[in-house]
Amino acid sequence: MTADKKSPFEGEHPNLKTGVASVTDSRPVAESTWLVEFAAPQLAEAVAPGHFVMLRLPELYSPLLGRPFAVYRADRASGRVQVIYLVVGNMTGRLSQIAPGTPLEWWGPLGNGWAPIEKDGVPAAGRIFMAAGGIGYTPFYMLAEKYASLQRGPELNLLYGARTESRVPNLDDFRALGVNVEVATDDGSTGVKGTVGDLLKAKGKGGLKDALVAACGPRPMLAAVFRTAERLGNIPCWTSLETPMSCGMGLCFGCVVEYRGDDGKTDYRRTCVDGPVFDAYRLNWD
Ligand SMILES: Cc1cc2nc3c(=O)[nH]c(=O)nc-3n(C[C@H](O)[C@H](O)[C@H](O)COP(=O)(O)OP(=O)(O)OC[C@H]3O[C@@H](n4cnc5c(N)ncnc54)[C@H](O)[C@@H]3O)c2cc1C
Ligand code: FES
Repeated sequence: MTADKKSPFEGEHPNLKTGVASVTDSRPVAESTWLVEFAAPQLAEAVAPGHFVMLRLPELYSPLLGRPFAVYRADRASGRVQVIYLVVGNMTGRLSQIAPGTPLEWWGPLGNGWAPIEKDGVPAAGRIFMAAGGIGYTPFYMLAEKYASLQRGPELNLLYGARTESRVPNLDDFRALGVNVEVATDDGSTGVKGTVGDLLKAKGKGGLKDALVAACGPRPMLAAVFRTAERLGNIPCWTSLETPMSCGMGLCFGCVVEYRGDDGKTDYRRTCVDGPVFDAYRLNWD
């Protein structure tokens, strides 16, 4: 069952689509981490790297509101979309219990995606360091896929950090694209003992020439990555924020973050429509 339809918010969000899709796959991929795949051809067609989608289980009243998730993978030929999520609460707990065939309501694609890290449609640096903590690797697969397909694409690096080995997902999807993958764990059970910030720091200034850092993960990890990029010579650093959201479409202002404008003054931006990707140098990391 797939029922893509036009959105009532089309004027404000020209690319926004909504639909009730049928779940085609649901399986664990690491400890407390699940993949859900659903049939949504319109979303698969429209989504770009770093976009997110709101998901809701229409047969349940709790949670009533949708939840935001990065699109991990989208296949235009089959119309299937994959989301990978960490089980943390109500929605993600229920999602992990559904079987193929379950209806899943979605609206998207949403947000600016990774477009700000490009100039005239091409990556703004010769070397991209994707810095991901925990579930924060999900917005990077489509980015890596896009850049790996370019004739003279950038060097692609994934610096991935997790608490412990059982939380590290299979990153072979990235390796298959030619991405250099480095792993760090807090307890050293696999990869280097340390954090994503440590992996970046180990590159040193010399290892970060013509580099751009794109980061996603928990806020303390993002702050550490940003500070490292700053210390190593103001390396361009962009962060995809996982700010909790209610509407996901710019209506409720529940997702605002402090943002420093061109005039140096701080005001607010909505993560759902102005982000989730922001220039880390414009955000407040204190
Ligand atoms: C743009 C964007 C993309 C995202 N992409 C992914 C993704 O690809 N995979 C994924 O697993 N998650 C992703 N998230 C986070 C995801 O939206 C939340 O984990 C989800 O909403 C939790 O819903 P729940 O009903 O299971 O938890 P709830 O029952 O609502 O909350 C359970 C606990 O988790 C905390 N919590 C809820 N949301 C967040 C959050 N965003 N950040 C920190 N703590 C939170 C709550 O405060 C509470 O303590 C993304 C968030 C954003 C904004
Ligand atoms: S979640 Fe409502 S404005 Fe962003």
